[in-house]
Amino acid sequence: MRIDILTIHPELLESPFNHSIIKRAKQKGLVEIVIHNIRDYSTDKHKSVDDYAFGGDAGMVMMCDPIFRCIEKLKAERHYDEVIYVTPDGKTLKQGISNRLATFENIIILCGHYKGVDHRIREHLVTLEISIGDYVLSGGELAAAVIVDSVVRIVPGVISDETSALTDSFQDGLLAPPVYTRPAVYNGWEVPAVLLSGNFKEISKWQEDQALSRTKLLRPDLLND
Ligand code: ADE
Repeated sequence: MRIDILTIHPELLESPFNHSIIKRAKQKGLVEIVIHNIRDYSTDKHKSVDDYAFGGDAGMVMMCDPIFRCIEKLKAERHYDEVIYVTPDGKTLKQGISNRLATFENIIILCGHYKGVDHRIREHLVTLEISIGDYVLSGGELAAAVIVDSVVRIVPGVISDETSALTDSFQDGLLAPPVYTRPAVYNGWEVPAVLLSGNFKEISKWQEDQALSRTKLLRPDLLND
């Protein structure tokens, strides 16, 4: 899978993809993440990427031309399954969206800044708008990093223990059950006895019950989705 990210602050995305699971996914050749500086596609002598908003509103708007030129160049090189714009007024990211994105060959993620991008880019080039939650960030880069992380970890082959990604919270619409490791007693705090029993049928039933009761208690909204 190839992910192209368009930003005016590439330095914000230097670190998040160079650690842990994403780093390994890149080393295994399962994903390629390419960061593009939108400023490189500006043609005026000041390398402008933004301009005043029509209508007299305060705040700058990211201009069409550098974004258009960057996206068109990429589209001339390969087919893209989605051109994503990260924005607080997009569709809220859920596990189902990440699962679908993880099946794609190539995606573009466009990060906004200031008051956002000229709306014509959204109307004519963007195919999917995603928000990572009901709050406003200073720019789309951290949202893009969240999306990439949630997608890359479920690309087939990235996590070697396949079941590990499948037992994540949300994969079956429920929160994950609690987990424990050695020692079986710490500070007098005991691991639930069933987990030490070796009875895998009982263990799996306990985990299912826990997943359901924790979801009812902590996220009842998930059961109505
Ligand atoms: N850009 C600014 N805020 C955002 C959010 N909540 N989600 C996605 N992109 C954003």
